[in-house]
Amino acid sequence: MTYWFQDPAIKGLLPLATSTSIKGLTTFFNMPALVIGSNCLAEAFMPQPSIIDIFNTRCTTRRSFFVTDAFSEKFAKKLFHVLDAAGFTTFIWNKALPEAPIDNVKECAEEMKKFEPDMIFAVGGGSVIDTAKAAWVLYERPDITDLGQINPLGLLGLRKKAGLVAVPTTSGTGSECTMAAVLHDPETHRKVPIANGDLFPDLALLDPEFTMTMPPRLTAGTGLDALAHAVDGIMTPASNDLTDAMGLRAIKLIFKYLPRAYRNGRDREARFRMHIAATMAGACFGQNSCAVTHGFGHAVGGLFGIHHGMAVGMFIPYALQCYRPVTEKFLDICEVMRIDTGSPDNRFEALLSAMRAILNDLNVPLSFQGLGIDEKGFFAQMEEMVTFAIEDIDTFFSPRPLTRKQSEKILECAYYGHDIDF
Ligand SMILES: [Fe+2]
Repeated sequence: MTYWFQDPAIKGLLPLATSTSIKGLTTFFNMPALVIGSNCLAEAFMPQPSIIDIFNTRCTTRRSFFVTDAFSEKFAKKLFHVLDAAGFTTFIWNKALPEAPIDNVKECAEEMKKFEPDMIFAVGGGSVIDTAKAAWVLYERPDITDLGQINPLGLLGLRKKAGLVAVPTTSGTGSECTMAAVLHDPETHRKVPIANGDLFPDLALLDPEFTMTMPPRLTAGTGLDALAHAVDGIMTPASNDLTDAMGLRAIKLIFKYLPRAYRNGRDREARFRMHIAATMAGACFGQNSCAVTHGFGHAVGGLFGIHHGMAVGMFIPYALQCYRPVTEKFLDICEVMRIDTGSPDNRFEALLSAMRAILNDLNVPLSFQGLGIDEKGFFAQMEEMVTFAIEDIDTFFSPRPLTRKQSEKILECAYYGHDIDF
C-alpha cells in the first residue's frame, strides 16, 4: 500500500507551492464563511440574514445529508429541525467512527450516493468532519477509488453536486477551516492525511453551546491540538503574515481560556473564546501544514492508540527544541505571551516553561513514559515510528530537515522526558 505522501515526485513539487518566494507572487488564503455564536441556529426573527437565507440561495434541490456520530447526533438534530421546518429534505447518517477509518468513509459515501444531497452537513468532532470530507470526494468523484492518493497538487473539481457545511462540536481540530482530512487505514495502522484546495468547507457554523458538555479530558486534548496547530503553523517556513496573525492570536486565547474551560466546562466565555481560537489555529495551519508536533504525534498516536490532540500536544516542547537551532521565529510567540525581556535563549527557556506549565495545568504528562506507555513496547516499534514520522507530510514542513538518527533521538527524548540537545 502506498500513499501520495510517499511519492517523491509529489513531495518534490510541494516546495514550489509553499516556498516563501512563490508565495510572494501568489498566496491563496482560503476560509469558509463563518457564522459564529450561540444564535447560529436561532429560529426566531433576527435582524441579520439567517442560516436558512444562506441555504435558500445555495441549495437547489434542498436535500441535506448529515454526517455525525452517536455522541453528536443530538446537536445534528437541532440543525435538522431548523432545516426540516424550512422545508428541506434531510437525512441523518450517525455512524461516523473515531479516527475516520477508510471503510467507514466508504460506507458513508454509499449512503450519500443513494440520497443525492446538494448540501452535506458534518456535525461533530474532527473525525466526523474528516469522514464527511472524504465521503464527499467519493460522492462527487466516483472515479476515485484510492483515497490515499488525494494530494494538494491540482483541484478535485468538487461542488458539482453538493457543498459542505462544517459544524464542529469540539474546539481543536480546525478541520472546519482546513483543506485536509486525516483518515485511518486499519490495514496498515497508519494515519493517512489527505489534502486538496477543494476540501475547504463552504461554511462553518461555530456554536459554542455544542461544546459545553465536552468532558475535561476531551477539552484538554482538543485544546492542545489547537495549540499545536498554531505553534507549528507559525514555525513552518510555509507560514505567511496572514497565517501568523491567526496563529498568534489563537495562542494568546488558548493560554488564557483553555485552562478555564478545562476546570469548568460550564464557563461559557471560555468555551466561546476557545471555539474561535481553535478555528483561528485551524486557519493558521490549514493554508500550509503543521510540522513536527503532528508528524511525530501521528506516528506515536497511531501505533499506541493515543488521542490525536494529546499526542501532538505532548510533542510541542520537543518540536520547539528541535526548531531552535535553525530559527528565531519563536520570538514572535514570546511577544504575544509577553515573554519579552532577556536574551533569545532566556526567552526560549521561558517559552518552554510556559508550554510545559499549560500541559501540567491540564494534567497531561510531559513524557510518553509518564503517560503509561510500556518502555519495551515503545522501543520495539522504534523503526516503524521513525519511518512513519519521517514520511509524514507534516514533518516535511518542519523548519529543520531531520535524519532518521535525529528522529529516533526526538522519540527517545519524548519517551523519557529529556531535553533535545542537538
Ligand atoms: Fe491536529
